[in-house]
Amino acid sequence: MALRALVLAALATLSWAELVDFKDCGSVDGKIVAVDVTPCPTEPCQLVRGTDYTINVTFSSNVESVSSKAVVYGILAGIAIPFPIPEADGCKSGILCPIHAGNSYSYVTRLPVKSEYPCIKLVVKWELQDDMKKNIFCWAIPVHITP
Ligand SMILES: *[C@@H]1O[C@H](CO)[C@@H](O)[C@H](O)[C@H]1NC(C)=O
Repeated sequence: MALRALVLAALATLSWAELVDFKDCGSVDGKIVAVDVTPCPTEPCQLVRGTDYTINVTFSSNVESVSSKAVVYGILAGIAIPFPIPEADGCKSGILCPIHAGNSYSYVTRLPVKSEYPCIKLVVKWELQDDMKKNIFCWAIPVHITP
């Protein structure tokens, strides 16, 4: 029974954590190990309006930092538009702060795709800034908002 539960849990994890291809947009104070968007069975991720997505970014830090702040943009026709997220504090998003140089962390947060968003293709750019406002990570992925 325990083994069966384990196997099921492992399968569930496999089918849920969707590693996505990302572009590093300048992770000067850290290194990205993986970016997961869940659910995102095919890329570019189709974000269905009215759905909540989970973002899980595994990274290591090169610096010590007491704080961490997420800054998100939607890039449309080359123009970066600030995109509000429910929780901008990285220290309340799975990261045990203070952040230590050389340690690995998983930043986990929710991305609600609101029903009123237009159905467009855009690039999501996600930064996590340290005390000096430098990027511990910065990644960008193309997405498609769908009805
Ligand atoms: C985030 O991803 C890491 C690395 O794959 C994993 O160990 C961790 O369990 C994930 N966290 C969540 C909440 O999914």
